[in-house]
Amino acid sequence: LFSAVEMAPRDPILGLNEAFNADTRTTKVNLGVGVYYNEEGRIPLLRAVAEAEKARIAAHAPRGYLPIEGIAAYDQAVQNLLFGADSALITDSRVVTAQALGGTGALKIGADFLKRLLPDSVVAISDPSWENHRALFESAGFPVHNYRYYDATTNGVNRAGLLEDLKALPPRSIVVLHACCHNPTGVDLELDDWKAILEVLREREHVPFLDIAYQGFGDGIDQDASAVRLFAQSGLQFFVSSSFSKSFSLYGERVGALSIVTASKEEAGRVLSQIKRVIRTNYSNPPTHGATVVASVLNSPELRAMWEAELAEMRDRIRAMRLAMVEQLASQGAARDFSFVARQRGMFSYSGLSAEQVERLKNEFGIYAVGTGRICVAALNTRNLAAVTSAIAQVL
Ligand code: LMR
Repeated sequence: LFSAVEMAPRDPILGLNEAFNADTRTTKVNLGVGVYYNEEGRIPLLRAVAEAEKARIAAHAPRGYLPIEGIAAYDQAVQNLLFGADSALITDSRVVTAQALGGTGALKIGADFLKRLLPDSVVAISDPSWENHRALFESAGFPVHNYRYYDATTNGVNRAGLLEDLKALPPRSIVVLHACCHNPTGVDLELDDWKAILEVLREREHVPFLDIAYQGFGDGIDQDASAVRLFAQSGLQFFVSSSFSKSFSLYGERVGALSIVTASKEEAGRVLSQIKRVIRTNYSNPPTHGATVVASVLNSPELRAMWEAELAEMRDRIRAMRLAMVEQLASQGAARDFSFVARQRGMFSYSGLSAEQVERLKNEFGIYAVGTGRICVAALNTRNLAAVTSAIAQVL
């Protein structure tokens, strides 16, 4: 039966974890996967999460099936966080939100629904984008195109190329956009760019699919949602995939959501019924723990304030690491100006390292990065920074 099955390549991001775990060097550093590690090099268990978990365990809550679309209080909290609690979209019941298995699960539910809705559309993702975007939409049956995004000469956005490519797509294409903290580059769009993009999407009747997996890791919870809120005011219908993996440090609990902005309450009811079909035929209904914890934190003023402070701590530490990395690379005599790292947002930096240099970092120094040169700045700390910057300076 399996004699003709070919060996699939390792996943470009999660596959690195397998290699990292098998590495016996005590000095190894994992800058591959997008995970926030604290100053001690550990994945933190947030205090707000621990408090909510304590209360949950004490309550001895039964573990019945959840509704197909997940916990209502969770879905509501997701909407408030994305669109703002006072959003007219929410009061008009125009948004459909379904709890999903992380941001990836949200993208997959959205992709499967879109394939039924617009079977002949193409999907466009940024060049470069998160590796799984292409794979995920291709596996849902779509041809996937790239639109220009990153300009390596300026370490910024290729604005003209981006707009030109969006205009050149067939009408009603599905356009995946990183709402903040672009993965993998760390290079974000300005509000004026978003306005220009919005107009092209409107003219071409493209379907926006905003992916927001790092809300709170850029400038703040509300600031990072500014693109989502701009789209919310535009009158367009669009998709949003969101995740609490990073912002709640709940990676393994798979806590995300798919939100779809529709034209009316009545339309929202019909869309939700189809989303429920997609979920039911994939995994039936979502798990209880992570979403219960997130909903308890977001719906308790005390725990929410605790979470916001912890999120700000993570954001500030990443920023401090960016600045320290730039300084140390300069003082190590790195043969390149890395000041752009300090201007990037979120967990990642597109370092400009080549695949060969990344390979040398791994083989010679036990430092793991993605083959494209993406490094996870959120995995740096004051103990490993000198070793990492010295290794980078040596491979340049
Ligand atoms: C990443 O880009 O490293 C994260 O989003 C984790 C993942 O699933 O790839």
